[in-house]
Amino acid sequence: MPAEPDFDVLFAAAAAVQPRAYAPYSRFKVGAALLADDGSVHAGCNVENAAYPVGTCAEAGAIAAMIAAGGRAIRAIVIFGEGPELVTPCGACRQRIREFAMPETPVAIAGPEGIRARFTLAELLPASFGPANLPR
Ligand code: THU
Repeated sequence: MPAEPDFDVLFAAAAAVQPRAYAPYSRFKVGAALLADDGSVHAGCNVENAAYPVGTCAEAGAIAAMIAAGGRAIRAIVIFGEGPELVTPCGACRQRIREFAMPETPVAIAGPEGIRARFTLAELLPASFGPANLPR
C-alpha cells in the first residue's frame, strides 16, 4: 500500500501558487498541487487569455508540470480557491485528472482556512471514460 499522501504539503504548494495565477478577466485565482507517482509535487495556476476560451485551469497547469517532469500518475490533488463555495474542478479538468488517476484517487478542495472537502475522483466523475476504453 502506498503511504497516505501528505495533504499539508499539497495544501501549502497549492496556496503558494494561487496568488501567481493570471486571472485578469475573472479575477478568480486558483492553485492546484498534485502528488505524482514518483513522490514529486507539482503545482499550477490558472492562466487566462483575452481570447477567453484559450485560458487554462490550475489543474491543467499542475498536470502539465507533472508530465514535463517525468511523472505519469496522480496520487492526490489539492485545489485551492477563495470564496464561500467549494472550488471543485470543472468538468474538463475532472477528465484531465482522470487520465492520470484511479477512481479512488483523492481530490481535496481547499480554501484559505485549509482543506474544506475531500472527494474521490469517482465521486466527481462517475462511470468515466478513460485510457482503458481505447484499444492499444
Ligand atoms: N478555474 C480553475 O483554474 N480551476 C478550477 O477548479 C475552477 C476554475 C479557473 C478557470 C478560470 O480562469 C477561473 O477559474 C474562473 O472560472
